[in-house]
Amino acid sequence: MSAILPPADRLWWKQSIDKTEWMWIFLAFTWAMIMFFMMIYWHINGKQNLSNEVYKTTPEAFAAKAEKFIAANTVRTETEQNIPVVKVPEGGDGYLVASLWKWSPILELEKGKTYKIHLSSMDYQHGFSLQPVNINIQVLPGYEHVVKMTPTQSGTYAIVCNEYCGIGHHTMLGRIYVK
Ligand code: CUA
Repeated sequence: MSAILPPADRLWWKQSIDKTEWMWIFLAFTWAMIMFFMMIYWHINGKQNLSNEVYKTTPEAFAAKAEKFIAANTVRTETEQNIPVVKVPEGGDGYLVASLWKWSPILELEKGKTYKIHLSSMDYQHGFSLQPVNINIQVLPGYEHVVKMTPTQSGTYAIVCNEYCGIGHHTMLGRIYVK
């Protein structure tokens, strides 16, 4: 029996399985099982797991918390739109609001310190993509996603929205400064 020619015997499914085929079935099954258990293994031992801390919220409640945070910690404003640059208190909480089509505020962090960054959306689904480190988080209205982060390198990081959110999607950029 070959894979190119049609089976000679019309009742091919009644033929016994060839040794070579059993070998491939065995290899594919073994590999699938290895990959399956790797999912569990990496969840426990991997270093890139996102925190699963998520709370239900409302855009109004989240905006109120973010506004309070911005009012208390703004150090200056930047760009023509006067986006506040907010220094997140050491070891504390920072709030990042996604809305059509901006990320606000600009967060300022310090290298080696750990922060809890709260993410939520005011309107539709957005995607938090942190470049160049390539961290991806879905940002949804009604959900407050809390991400623990400890920046290891100083510099300017870009936040790119990677979930299509309408006509201004490509302009939805934000920034995080690490000193
Ligand atoms: Cu927000 Cu695309």
